[in-house]
Amino acid sequence: MDQNEKKYRVARAALAFVPANAIVGVGTGSTANFFIDALGEQRASIRGAVASSEASAARLRALGITLFDLNEAGELPIYVDGADETTRERCLIKGGGGALTREKIIAAASRQFVCVVDDSKLVTQLGRFPLPVEVIPLALAQVARALTQLGGRPVLRAGFVTDNGNQILDVHDLIISAPGALESQINQLVGVVTNGLFANRPADIVLMSTPHGVERF
Ligand code: A5P
Repeated sequence: MDQNEKKYRVARAALAFVPANAIVGVGTGSTANFFIDALGEQRASIRGAVASSEASAARLRALGITLFDLNEAGELPIYVDGADETTRERCLIKGGGGALTREKIIAAASRQFVCVVDDSKLVTQLGRFPLPVEVIPLALAQVARALTQLGGRPVLRAGFVTDNGNQILDVHDLIISAPGALESQINQLVGVVTNGLFANRPADIVLMSTPHGVERF
């Protein structure tokens, strides 16, 4: 089974968690896109969606799904999104698509965060995937110096601007043995908007596509 087939299957499995009449939080990326397409087929049974990026908003809109601003929608019953890495403890690295800040906001506003991945994303320790950090442009150099002091090797994501008008440093070589503490520490650096560790608010459920079916943990 190829990776796209795995993404397709796990995205469809997430539909079972979507309550009737819900405003659904929707993530960003190729797995989230499969979820959006599946949601489009069920649009009559939901009220609408809150999108974590302009790209996901455009895809939802094209399928006729009503979009809500998070400030109007209030607390959401469910948020469905992919990840770049997950542990069995459901701590994640996200932000490969650069939408980490809005993703983290919507996850925080949701009662249940269902993360949809294929089995290539499972790790025993986070950090093989470079950690994305969204930074206010004025602070790029000083934040890069601080991340280097933490043992990382920050690399500017060239030619990329987030939906919030900021830039991304992808931090290689970090040893992430205490993800919650590191998440808080990086978020304390002046000029950091947020980082892609989802450990203090991990996923509630991970659905992982394998050759043998969809596993839940
Ligand atoms: C988007 O900013 C990310 O957090 C995505 O959730 C992540 O990159 C996973 O994307 P794929 O589903 O395309 O692997």
